[in-house]
Amino acid sequence: MEMKPRRLSIIRPDDWHLHVRDGEGMAAVLPFSARRFGRAGIMPNLKPPVTTVAQALAYRECILRVLPAGTDFDPRMFIYLTDNTSVEEVARAAQEDLVLGFKLYPAGATTNSDAGVTDIDKLHDRFEAMERSEVPLCVHGEVTDLAVDIFDRERVFIERVLVPIRRGHPALKIVLEHVTTKDGVDYVNYDRSMGSQTAATITAHHLLLNRNAIFQGGVRPHHYCLPVLKRETHRQALVAAVASGSPGFFLGTDSAPHAKHTKEAACGCAGCFTAHAGIELYAEVFAEMNALDKLEAFASFTGADFYGLPRNMETITLVEKPWLVPQSYEYGEGNTVVPLRAGEQILWQLEPSVE
Ligand code: NCD
Ligand code: ZN
Repeated sequence: MEMKPRRLSIIRPDDWHLHVRDGEGMAAVLPFSARRFGRAGIMPNLKPPVTTVAQALAYRECILRVLPAGTDFDPRMFIYLTDNTSVEEVARAAQEDLVLGFKLYPAGATTNSDAGVTDIDKLHDRFEAMERSEVPLCVHGEVTDLAVDIFDRERVFIERVLVPIRRGHPALKIVLEHVTTKDGVDYVNYDRSMGSQTAATITAHHLLLNRNAIFQGGVRPHHYCLPVLKRETHRQALVAAVASGSPGFFLGTDSAPHAKHTKEAACGCAGCFTAHAGIELYAEVFAEMNALDKLEAFASFTGADFYGLPRNMETITLVEKPWLVPQSYEYGEGNTVVPLRAGEQILWQLEPSVE
């Protein structure tokens, strides 16, 4: 007897951590997110970075101009925190509904983070302004100290940077972006148990893969991202966090497109492109752990609630029907981008089928 494929309808999800870049590449990748998600938190690490409310709104207009006709995809913006961000800029961000918060990149931590923060201790007044006006601080949680092993950088960031920020600013809303370790999960749970407004986004690739994926049969540049994939025990802690249904964890794909030749290089860029299956990959993980009933809150409610935004109204339907991921997608200017699972199957798809 043929089994009917499983189907799941959920309120349209949001992607609270997304890189869409700019120029032709942006126009090429945006439709993938717009088909799946109602809203997205757009990361500001352009070259040069998006450091003011005015720049963020201009960037948002560029995004809206190239969106496919008929979509009501609603980009929400992050502003790149620098040593020179002013307290007035924080006040402007607090007044602007289209701005979600500030993104803290330790200088040199990841792609286009040269303008990042060099000395956290000097940002006290800015953090205080955010705390006072309820503007969230979203952090790339890795130290850049080269003496710290790359697999320990998230844990050490929590100890050296996050704990002191939290101690100094008990009411600050903090998102530990793309949490990758048990230490990070434990920190979020602990902080919330103390009454703090701390949350974390979790990517699909960190839920699906451990660090072996970077070296499977040879070096796999398309599995290289930051924070780097961790060992299996950490992946399991992430899976347990989402399966728990805790409102401390919500969806942020961190889909980070890079042209194929810039990843397949002697010094390749960090980032996994996952927007082509931005919700389907999560459905796979949740199905695998028999937690499909937890997907909707993680993908569609918890993030909106954290940011104080209304939940979406429409629904999407996912069906357990395998499809073959292409080897690459167009990425503007004659470039291509290699998606996660290129040339392999993904077990869930959107219905009606979109590609
Ligand atoms: C991101 C990028 O390419 O912009 N790369 C990544 O590996 N995640 C930057 C980031 O979010 O760290
Ligand atoms: Zn990112």
